[in-house]
Amino acid sequence: MRKELVDLSINGRRHELAVEPNRTLLDVLREDLRLTGTKCGCDDSSCGACTVVVDGQPMLSCLLLAVSYQDSQIQTIESLATQGELGALQRGFVQEGGSQCGFCTPGMVMSLHTLLESTADPTEEEVRAAISGNICRCTGYMQICRAVRHAVAEIREEEIREKERLHA
Ligand code: FES
Ligand code: FES
Repeated sequence: MRKELVDLSINGRRHELAVEPNRTLLDVLREDLRLTGTKCGCDDSSCGACTVVVDGQPMLSCLLLAVSYQDSQIQTIESLATQGELGALQRGFVQEGGSQCGFCTPGMVMSLHTLLESTADPTEEEVRAAISGNICRCTGYMQICRAVRHAVAEIREEEIREKERLHA
């Protein structure tokens, strides 16, 4: 199949590459760009492991054609750590055992990252609704809910410290 030149914005960087029009965003992320944090758990839209954030919304990258997302801002799990340090949500997963085999974790984290962007202190119901499309076969989801609480508390403490610094 003839390739098309595409220009994708991923984690704040533009990537120009030639791809076949039938390639999924998931395949392009993993195979062409070697952003392998995003996982392929089923390839038929039933597991959520491939979740990335597209224009602020969690989406299944195994369902998206890469050529159709040239005008979008795409965010993958690789964007959440800064200078090698995990983000608050990722630290919550580590601290609370929210990641066991870890296969579902990148997709879970991206769904929950989107939730926390819009809802600073979500209820457990909201957390469970946000990950209703993400299947975890290991944790039973309790640890994942605790990981979110952990992250919310950490983010709040950091905000308080920041305010104190500004008023010192
Ligand atoms: S790989 Fe996309 S939903 Fe499972
Ligand atoms: S940690 Fe293993 S599938 Fe979720």
